[in-house]
Amino acid sequence: MLRRSLGSIVSLASRKYSGKSFSSNMAQIINGNEIAKEIRGQLKQELKDLVDSGNPVPHLTAVIVGEDPASEKYVQNKMNACLEVGISSETKRLPASTTQEELLQLIAELNKDQRVTGVLVQLPVPEHINERTICNAVDVDKDVDGFNELNIGRLALDMDGIVPATPLGVKRLLEHQNIETHGRNAVVVGRSKNVSLPMAILLHADGKYATKALDATVTICHRYTPPKELARHCRQADIIVVAVGKPGLITKDMVKPGACVIDVGINRIKDEKTGKFKLVGDVDFEEVRQVAGHITPVPGGVGPMTVAMLLHNTLKTAKKQFCDRQAS
Ligand code: GUN
Repeated sequence: MLRRSLGSIVSLASRKYSGKSFSSNMAQIINGNEIAKEIRGQLKQELKDLVDSGNPVPHLTAVIVGEDPASEKYVQNKMNACLEVGISSETKRLPASTTQEELLQLIAELNKDQRVTGVLVQLPVPEHINERTICNAVDVDKDVDGFNELNIGRLALDMDGIVPATPLGVKRLLEHQNIETHGRNAVVVGRSKNVSLPMAILLHADGKYATKALDATVTICHRYTPPKELARHCRQADIIVVAVGKPGLITKDMVKPGACVIDVGINRIKDEKTGKFKLVGDVDFEEVRQVAGHITPVPGGVGPMTVAMLLHNTLKTAKKQFCDRQAS
């Protein structure tokens, strides 16, 4: 531990005072597994305190429509994490042929069920179902994903609400590592409504308000940003968050020495050497770590933080419901 701290000090000093020393300094790898474990420990205690003071055990219901193996895996991870922390949970599986009306009916039942304090519908849903209609149908007070338009609106307006788990997890990683964001340049690569948009809001908004945002100057790049412009914007960035699903998109030449690179991408590719499938992000990790100051690995970076923040959101929604019930 001490060796690591001293190493960081030396590394920081050489970064500051010698322009030539960057290539010999590898980025600090942000261990999302470790940080998420620490957070799950805190949540376990929080849950115990909640139940010890006479409240019911929070209950999360996840809904999967269809048979996507990746969705099965993600939901299994979420359920395992609930079990570890002590949150009660269940998964409802519906066939891919389920109509939108049938799914809306199930969501209405879950919204009404007092025992259920959190509801999530795993995305993507089959093409004949409108994702936005489904996200908006989940009761805003049970919306542990933060995908309901009211929760997104609250975030956009600096109001307290439920913030989507992945961007909230990235914010927690930046805070945990003491990455300075106030007045710094950040680039978000990608413009998805569930990850990149709330990420850009959290990065740029005012830290004085309820969302305790990060006060950075934010540029959003997307599929129509020409590659040369993407590289130019990234090179100016102190923080890069990439969430597009393109292996190797962010290369060493696009990263400012010392920048913090957060990789949200999860791509399953065939390893040329072993012939086996493996998970990689959107960043050329081995190259970029030679120039960045901090970098998240895939797997083991943002992924476990997303699950930890889902648990955080599940506790937050449950606490609000218990409080509202007592008041009424
Ligand atoms: N599919 C991929 N990520 C997510 C997520 O965070 N929540 C839900 N509901 N579906 C997803």
